[in-house]
Amino acid sequence: MEKVGVLGAGTMGMGIAWAFAGAGKKVVLYDIKQEIVDGCIAKISKGLAKAEEKGQAPAGAKDFVLGNITGTVNLEDMANVDFVVESVVENIDIKKEVYKKLSDIVKPEVVVATNTSSLSITEIAATYARPEKVAGMHFFNPAMVMALIEVIPALQTSEETVETIIALSKEIGKKPIKVKEGPGFVVNRILIPGMNEAAFILMEGLATIEDIDKAMKLGAGWPMGPFTLADMVGLDIALEVGNVLFRETGDPKYRPAPIIKQYVRAGWLGRKTGRGFYDYSQKK
Ligand code: 3HC
Repeated sequence: MEKVGVLGAGTMGMGIAWAFAGAGKKVVLYDIKQEIVDGCIAKISKGLAKAEEKGQAPAGAKDFVLGNITGTVNLEDMANVDFVVESVVENIDIKKEVYKKLSDIVKPEVVVATNTSSLSITEIAATYARPEKVAGMHFFNPAMVMALIEVIPALQTSEETVETIIALSKEIGKKPIKVKEGPGFVVNRILIPGMNEAAFILMEGLATIEDIDKAMKLGAGWPMGPFTLADMVGLDIALEVGNVLFRETGDPKYRPAPIIKQYVRAGWLGRKTGRGFYDYSQKK
């Protein structure tokens, strides 16, 4: 599998494109607007320059990765790829639209994997002409760094599709695990309630944001505290996953903390908007 289509040049699409390109795959990166695609490629370039400087990436990695990525705003370009990862906005109507269009574009033998973290993969697959070719391929932020991939078959997914995704994940140096479809899969089912609980602790005034983060880093060995993590993941995404856990299980233990809802309503989504639980506006 030489050529991979990545649909969506947001936070996850960026990391996913970077991960594939870094492993030597030719990536066709699609989004609806040229400035989104260009902005994404610029972020990869900046991130790799920094990673090279810090010794987190070998010298020449930036040129190698960028040389493997072609940006496009033309969905028809997916006609020439051998695999598709879809990471467009987490909105079922938009996804359905994309899968309907893809049905007539993508080669019949090609697997289309969705990076959704909150929507039903079975429902997404149902809108594609060849539902047996669709499955979940869930990356973790930052996707170029985090090793895990959750591979989630939809009800309609063939075993061959699952095997294709597992093999490709390994080929790009990731560690796949197979998970049945269920709200939050494995990681988010544990992680999102953790962030949510941190928000309730904050609302109860038990400790400051900084101290709660410090507590989980130094007391539980988390690489980053729950608020730093929530800001990195995006509060909108954390809320969306939290809402899905709550809605799908009906269990009140998953009810999203009001402070997270309020921050999202204010547009304080975390690093991507310059403000979340922390303020990033002064950071270059
Ligand atoms: N190549 C390129 N960049 C790298 C890198 C590498 N190998 N390793 C680290 N970086 C980047 C980081 O992304 C970060 O970027 P920034 O400057 O823009 O903040 C920067 O380098 C700093 O990293 P550090 O040198 O401080 O590296 P750390 O050792 O702190 O590692 C981390 C950073 C890997 C992000 C680590 O803190 C970590 O593992 N955090 C937890 C992440 C996590 O839990 N992710 C899952 C979120 S849930 C999710 O994504 C699911 C979704 O559905 C919601």
